[in-house]
Amino acid sequence: MPYARPPGLYDRDVEWSDLIGFVSAKRSRLGLGLVYGRRRFGNSFLLRRLVDAVGGVYHLALEESRAPALGRFAATVGSLYTPAAPVTFDGWDAALRSAVGVLGKRETPQLLILDEYPYLRAQSPELDSVIQALVDDVAGGSLGADWQSRVSIIVCGSAFSVMTDLLSGTAPLRGRAVLDLPLHSFDYRQSRDFWQVADPETAFLLHSIVGGAAGYRDLTGGVAAPERPNEIADWSAATILNPSHALSGKTSTCYGRTHEYPRRPSTTRFSVRWRPARRLSVRSPACWDARASTWAIRSGCWCRPVSSPAKRICLSHRTRCFE
Ligand SMILES: Nc1ncnc2c1ncn2[C@@H]1O[C@H](COP(=O)(O)OP(=O)(O)O)[C@@H](O)[C@H]1O
Ligand SMILES: [Mg+2]
Repeated sequence: MPYARPPGLYDRDVEWSDLIGFVSAKRSRLGLGLVYGRRRFGNSFLLRRLVDAVGGVYHLALEESRAPALGRFAATVGSLYTPAAPVTFDGWDAALRSAVGVLGKRETPQLLILDEYPYLRAQSPELDSVIQALVDDVAGGSLGADWQSRVSIIVCGSAFSVMTDLLSGTAPLRGRAVLDLPLHSFDYRQSRDFWQVADPETAFLLHSIVGGAAGYRDLTGGVAAPERPNEIADWSAATILNPSHALSGKTSTCYGRTHEYPRRPSTTRFSVRWRPARRLSVRSPACWDARASTWAIRSGCWCRPVSSPAKRICLSHRTRCFE
């Protein structure tokens, strides 16, 4: 079934087509998928647009205890009825069975998105097993026989380690998810387009400072993006170097490496330098390689020098990510 790409969604072509493929696949009546990426990468933005295009319901979890979390989910499920009806649940098993039951009665494929899933799971550790049982019951035929359409559940979160652990080892959801989609930051070219900075050197410096987190453009919305290299210093002073700015000391890579990628080494530091002779030590997707006297850029992933300093291997993807 063709689904219109939403206006306002920049790029994410591959992710969009993977998500549409997942939703429309001919498979079991209940599909499970994972989407995860660091904060401000656009996880929620993408999934909200997906549910608008496909149909279904988007539920954003809060960091709250079990009872209010169940209450908020019940309100989401109640809104699926026509007219909306008040419902209550005493556990996640009943709550999720009710949600997929209502969606399955609709005529077209439907989505149930559980955003910020790690918040739910932190207070309700049984949730993974509840979803596992749901998937298995539908696959086994004891649930969903009377559904009109397929239902897909997508769990999403920005706590990278929690999300990747969902499918590891003996975890309940291992072997159940069909989609395992990490959302990456924009690379240099995407960032240049997204920030609409025409000058390549300025775009390069900007990307080296803020990285490819889409949401950082909103956070710096009050300050016009630099158009020339000599505007970078003023722009930085008004944003990331301004102690009262939300981005102060928190470039995208700092956020990720210290808090959301706990398994990655946290000691690696890169130096970012821009003219004239301004030097700032931050973790950054671009670095000044002093030995080679050249800028090196990384596309949102961990790289290390190989034979030539200008060629690096991406440790996440085992591919050469730039030359
Ligand atoms: N692909 C995109 N196209 C346009 N804007 C985007 C895109 N991805 C993210 N954004 C912007 O970034 C902001 C933050 O995205 P959001 O999805 O809330 O981040 P998170 O990954 O933390 O859930 C959005 O409000 C939107 O303005
Ligand atoms: Mg979000």
